[in-house]
Amino acid sequence: MNIFVTGGAGFIGSNFIFYMLKQHPDYRIVCLDKLTYAGNLSTLKPVMDNKNFRFVKLDICDREGVFALFEEEHPDIVVNFAAESHVDRSIEDPGVFLQTNIFGTATLMDACRKYGIKRYHQVSTDEVYGDLPLDKPELFFTEETPLHTSSPYSASKAAADLLVMAYYRTYGLPVTISRCSNNYGPYHFPEKLIPLMIANCLNDKALPVYGEGINVRDWLYVEDHCSAIDLIIHKGKVGEVYNVGGHNEMRNIDIVKLICKELDKPESLITHVTDRKGHDMRYAIDPTKIHDELGWLPKTKFADGIKKTIQWYLDNRDWWEEIVSGDYRNYYEKMYGKR
Ligand code: NAD
Ligand code: DAU
Repeated sequence: MNIFVTGGAGFIGSNFIFYMLKQHPDYRIVCLDKLTYAGNLSTLKPVMDNKNFRFVKLDICDREGVFALFEEEHPDIVVNFAAESHVDRSIEDPGVFLQTNIFGTATLMDACRKYGIKRYHQVSTDEVYGDLPLDKPELFFTEETPLHTSSPYSASKAAADLLVMAYYRTYGLPVTISRCSNNYGPYHFPEKLIPLMIANCLNDKALPVYGEGINVRDWLYVEDHCSAIDLIIHKGKVGEVYNVGGHNEMRNIDIVKLICKELDKPESLITHVTDRKGHDMRYAIDPTKIHDELGWLPKTKFADGIKKTIQWYLDNRDWWEEIVSGDYRNYYEKMYGKR
């Protein structure tokens, strides 16, 4: 089996590559990644010498490059993680989100149509469903929940999902889509809530909580997301969407307080800052379908996963310190300087 993993130098894609090479040591994995600010080749160091792994620096919007690689490798399966993934950046500058997340998805699927494929899997997000109110805890996102997006990021992901289903219906492309809740774990880029708060705590910097911090996210350890995708590409039904989540809803403020406690830092570091524009209140996934149809269940409880994650950031300071000391400083100043 030859699997193309796009965006494999990013957070979830790299974890997926490690997971797959461990679970299926005889599979060939080819990682295509443009290496944007979010892609980090050093993350893939542990697998670079694996004879079943190949890294190719490539933009998924580069039609000629993508088609040439398909011609050379003839992949059986494509798993598309490549995306601009940060909501706050999409609010500042939507253009590149439309380009990569929509046009890039279409380019990959065009190559799949031309060269043939057993499966094209689109890694989508629960954000395509919009948000849920805080006062109705009985509501969850199911696969039937209408798409209703809030940010340019989520709108671009929803557009990509619609394109994927259009390629299924129009061309019979064998597709699946997964819509997962918020992931956390190793190699998470420090612009996102959990790694940002860990890094800032460790540097005794202010912890910028948007608004009151009462927004709720449904957190899943990244390896559990990887196991869900592994199941879907092998056993999932073509043309289907699968929601992925572990029923672990938490308020942002409680996560930040927990990180302070684990790292023995004072809560006085917490600073409430101007809220995100169009900020989604609550995400909550109903994972019944993937559980009942494919037997998927998450393995890592949040209490253990967050400890493992914090320990990873303590043990791998070089990885994130290199990031936060580079261009990231300009990003941080722009986003948080006058917030
Ligand atoms: P990330 O930002 O950490 O990584 C994205 C990767 O894609 C980077 O390596 C980047 O270099 C690469 N990339 C960006 N543009 C590219 C292009 N044009 N061509 C090739 N490579 C390109 O993102 P992530 O958090 O790992 O998310 C991966 C996927 O999972 C995304 O599609 C995202 O929408 C989805 N998702 C993320 C979460 C989450 O909590 N992080 C949850 C659900 C779904
Ligand atoms: O739900 C899945 C989505 O989760 C993915 O599709 C996205 O790619 C991923 O980035 C993530 O989106 P969120 O916007 O939920 O994640 P983020 O880590 O940016 O923010 C989580 C919550 O924390 C959100 O309510 C905003 C808040 N926040 C975030 C940052 C970076 C803060 O309060 N302060 C911060 O500095």
